[in-house]
Amino acid sequence: MPRLSVWFVRASLIYLMVGFTLGALLLANKGVFLHPLVWRLLPAHIELLLMGWVVLLALGVAFWILPRWQTKRGNEKPAWAALLLINLGLWCVIAAAWLPGYDDLLWWGRSLEALGVAAFAFHAWPRVKPWVEG
Ligand code: HEM
Repeated sequence: MPRLSVWFVRASLIYLMVGFTLGALLLANKGVFLHPLVWRLLPAHIELLLMGWVVLLALGVAFWILPRWQTKRGNEKPAWAALLLINLGLWCVIAAAWLPGYDDLLWWGRSLEALGVAAFAFHAWPRVKPWVEG
């Protein structure tokens, strides 16, 4: 597995563990009231599991298995940028739920995530191609 995929997949596994833990806390808080602030973990739960776990795992595996040119994966820089941008965006979105004074954070977070996905698409586009027979 290439190094970038290792980073994508490891990050996604960490987000899976944290996201499930927050989900368990949210669930427990419904049965046995723990603290009024627990409900505010919902945006982090959603973000960690959808962007963190699902998206990072998909992109990490895609970077690994999409068709290559001999052993080369083309321009890898946008894919590295995607890892950075999506992670930054994810934490901005999570922070937005806890820092109500910083209204722009959610916008920045979503924009960084969108930019990250676009960077990955830019990298992957030429690698998405049919088999050449013969
Ligand atoms: C990949 C796995 C998961 C994903 C993508 C996910 C995603 C979500 C989403 C999108 C919501 C918001 C639903 C809504 O507002 O209607 C939610 C709510 C919630 N999730 Fe998860 N979740 C996952 C796993 C879990 C797990 C494992 C637990 C518990 C151990 C959990 C506990 C909860 C709870 C308690 C809520 C609040 C439900 C409510 O509105 O009362 N989630 N989750």
